[in-house]
Amino acid sequence: MKMRAAVLEQFGEPLSVREVELAEPRVGEVLVRLAACGVCHTDLYTASGADPSGYAPTVLGHEGAGVVERVGPEVTLLAPGDHVVTLFSPQCGECLHCLDPRTNLCLAIREQQNKGFLPDGSTRISLGGDPIRHFMGCSTFAEYTVMPEIALAKVSPEAPFEHACLFACGLSTGLGAAINTAAVQAGGTCVVFGAGMVGLGAVAGCRLQGAERIACVDLSPERLELARGQGATDLLLAGESTVEEILEMTGGFGADYTFEATGNVAVMRQAVEAARMGWGLCTVAGVAGKGETLDVVPRFLITGRRIAGSSFGGVKGRDQVPVLVERYLAGEIDLSPFVSHRIGLDEVNRGFELMEAQDGIRSVIEFA
Ligand SMILES: NC(=O)c1ccc[n+]([C@@H]2O[C@H](COP(=O)([O-])OP(=O)(O)OC[C@H]3O[C@@H](n4cnc5c(N)ncnc54)[C@H](O)[C@@H]3O)[C@@H](O)[C@H]2O)c1
Ligand SMILES: [Zn+2]
Ligand SMILES: [Zn+2]
Repeated sequence: MKMRAAVLEQFGEPLSVREVELAEPRVGEVLVRLAACGVCHTDLYTASGADPSGYAPTVLGHEGAGVVERVGPEVTLLAPGDHVVTLFSPQCGECLHCLDPRTNLCLAIREQQNKGFLPDGSTRISLGGDPIRHFMGCSTFAEYTVMPEIALAKVSPEAPFEHACLFACGLSTGLGAAINTAAVQAGGTCVVFGAGMVGLGAVAGCRLQGAERIACVDLSPERLELARGQGATDLLLAGESTVEEILEMTGGFGADYTFEATGNVAVMRQAVEAARMGWGLCTVAGVAGKGETLDVVPRFLITGRRIAGSSFGGVKGRDQVPVLVERYLAGEIDLSPFVSHRIGLDEVNRGFELMEAQDGIRSVIEFA
């Protein structure tokens, strides 16, 4: 079939929206009609050419929500009409990691996905007979996509698509960092560094876990106000003395849980140093630049602080994303402040510009 998609043809160039060919789903694959898709830093990072593992040509986008149109042979998990959220982090349910509660890093299709292929090593998207690769296994800057059934979470049809798509990446990452990775205990003291989609999700996750005090640190007063809306009790403008301010706030000890959601390695260090001696846990969700390292004085670890990394918030997508969406539908999370701009697919490059200007949390592409 023919469809319109935003194609990254050359790194550093704007995406071009054009008509491409999409082949039918094969064994274990599903054809999804996209209804909404968030524009994320990771898309821009790849488009810019800064990502060393990036490839082109590809159809970008990985924060999709839509409806199952058709299923390929042997698909058992989904049926036409199901509402789905795309998962760049799939859940096969059978591999060593899927069977272990300690991780969400499914091993089933990683290798091919990282190269831009579907699990059988080929692509369904093409232009003039030349293959176009799938981005993060999703390629959701498009009217339709073909994805493995294990990379789609079936969610309640009650959830508006513009909110459902937020669960495909940053929101679930933040929520999961607090709920899964840190497993914040009720009454705990938390500090979240960064008030973008991930940090705000972490603030909400800490609140849902029953944290007593949730401080949020950011450079932007407007973003700190959004953090207040998600349950932050203390707002700190980021600066040189941030760690001292947190120590002061916490009787000289530091927080039970800290979260890093900026991707800046200097902030990661602050997040470690702001964690409490004895049991403070620093959860790192931010993605650092290539070759950057985290500088930590080992004494912080000897005296009982711990550091954990968190990919997609430790969320096992097919099981847990539907549950998070239910909690949203039950009124536990307010997502309206996160959707700042609604744009058409043709305006995808404007979505990048808005993001670079830090104008709002998410621009969401809506498909007619
Ligand atoms: N682990 C994962 O699976 C995963 C998933 C999605 C995104 N990420 C990463 O998480 C990070 C955050 O993503 P996002 O979409 O929320 O980004 P974002 O750019 O919207 O938010 C980052 C926030 O950090 C703030 N900030 C910058 N420097 C700061 C400083 N020195 N102190 C305090 N705050 C500072 C910015 O003002 C901004 O509000 C990125 O590194 C992103 O790549 C990780
Ligand atoms: Zn993303
Ligand atoms: Zn698996």
